[in-house]
Amino acid sequence: MDKVSIAVFASGTGSNARHLIELERANALHPAHVAVLVSDQPECQAVAFARLANIPVWAKKHKEAGGKEAFERAVVSFLQEHDVRLVVLAGYMRLVGSVLLDAYEGRMINLHPSLLPAFKGLDAIGQALDAGIQQTGVTVHYVTAGLDDGPVIAQTPVAIKPTDTKETLSARIHEAEHELLSEVVRTVCLLLKENEEK
Ligand code: GAR
Repeated sequence: MDKVSIAVFASGTGSNARHLIELERANALHPAHVAVLVSDQPECQAVAFARLANIPVWAKKHKEAGGKEAFERAVVSFLQEHDVRLVVLAGYMRLVGSVLLDAYEGRMINLHPSLLPAFKGLDAIGQALDAGIQQTGVTVHYVTAGLDDGPVIAQTPVAIKPTDTKETLSARIHEAEHELLSEVVRTVCLLLKENEEK
């Protein structure tokens, strides 16, 4: 069975990107193939790990690329050169613009550390802690023009313990993210394949 090439977009630590790459190495991401990594932060850990793993990387700051539109046009060309069929935003801390959306809407998913629509935007884990609630979670959704908006594909709840700090809660959120994102990536790639074979 053919693989489905995916691009992972990341701006920071890249633990989710790394998990996907490691799963593929262990033959556990089928039918997805992590073809490339894209970043707006050339010095971030996600980029360093992808380079070590010999994954083709496209990484530039918006400014260096000539602004957001030029950045996205160059990224879309790079994705097309690598036959990318699904874009996975995993800690990509930029609002996607119209150039990327026109090319990949319906084939672009985003991971967010809350049970959307609760706690959109930055520091969703801190927002949940500050709200004093007992449960938060993680969401994977299709990307649309709005911030952390778009149809939800899957969610996992994560309990907030009274003793939780940002560090302890973040660690459990990340575990839930690694599991949920890889499951959704496999399923969406299978669906893409099935649709293309019809
Ligand atoms: C993840 O928690 C992801 O949900 C979040 O950034 C983190 C990246 O972690 N994304 C957002 O907040 C997007 N709105 P990682 O770099 O270790 O994969």
